[in-house]
Amino acid sequence: MAELGVNIDHVATLRQTRMGLEPEPVYAAMIAEQNGADQITIHLREDRRHIQLRDLKTLKNTIQTRLNLEMALTTEIIAIAKSVKPHTVTLVPEKREELTTEGGLNLHIKNIEGKIKELQDAGLEVSLFLEPEAEMIRLADRLKVSAVEIHTGTYANTKTLQEAENQIARIAKAAKLIKSSGMRVVAGHGLNYHNVQALVDLGTIEEFNIGHSIVSRAVFTGMAEAVATMKILIS
Ligand code: PXP
Repeated sequence: MAELGVNIDHVATLRQTRMGLEPEPVYAAMIAEQNGADQITIHLREDRRHIQLRDLKTLKNTIQTRLNLEMALTTEIIAIAKSVKPHTVTLVPEKREELTTEGGLNLHIKNIEGKIKELQDAGLEVSLFLEPEAEMIRLADRLKVSAVEIHTGTYANTKTLQEAENQIARIAKAAKLIKSSGMRVVAGHGLNYHNVQALVDLGTIEEFNIGHSIVSRAVFTGMAEAVATMKILIS
């Protein structure tokens, strides 16, 4: 059975629009855990646009499942990861101007091996967020990481059934290669209530990290109660 990592970045995005205390991402993490999440995923970005250092530290001390920190390989974030020690770090590319993580990590970066080793030596499980491409997966295997998270964004953005089928076949091939190389198979980005089933059916993906669609749905499943309670207060 595949596991679910719930990405709560967008709860923090909403909080940061007012720079206040609500909605509280730590509370979102607890509700997620109580309803079956196997892992909480957050991305501490260099620009701190959503998750803050305080969220990372509080989550590390309060969640009862596993904490997966998405992070760029910068000196500052590496130092934070080594000190807070989430269970897993998922290395992602990061650009200030992007709306969300675009594309997988390019493994042809200077001293990537040394930086991964530094994180592993600190006791962290390292996962790499990669496009479903054989060349990158083989490089990941050589880097001796524990897991590869397949970037499912291209699949999620397909417009026709044929395009979707082509992307599913691409992901299936990548998942097989990751598994046969002895690494854990993870997938994420852009997955929602319509497109996730086809990937679950592959049977090879061990963990899904999903955020935007869950938080989007939560807005509507909670809207009726939120309005009704406010109506009672002002009546
Ligand atoms: N996995 C990784 C590595 C990501 O960068 C993201 C986006 O933060 C997700 C999963 C979740 O993507 P989404 O919010 O589109 O479900």
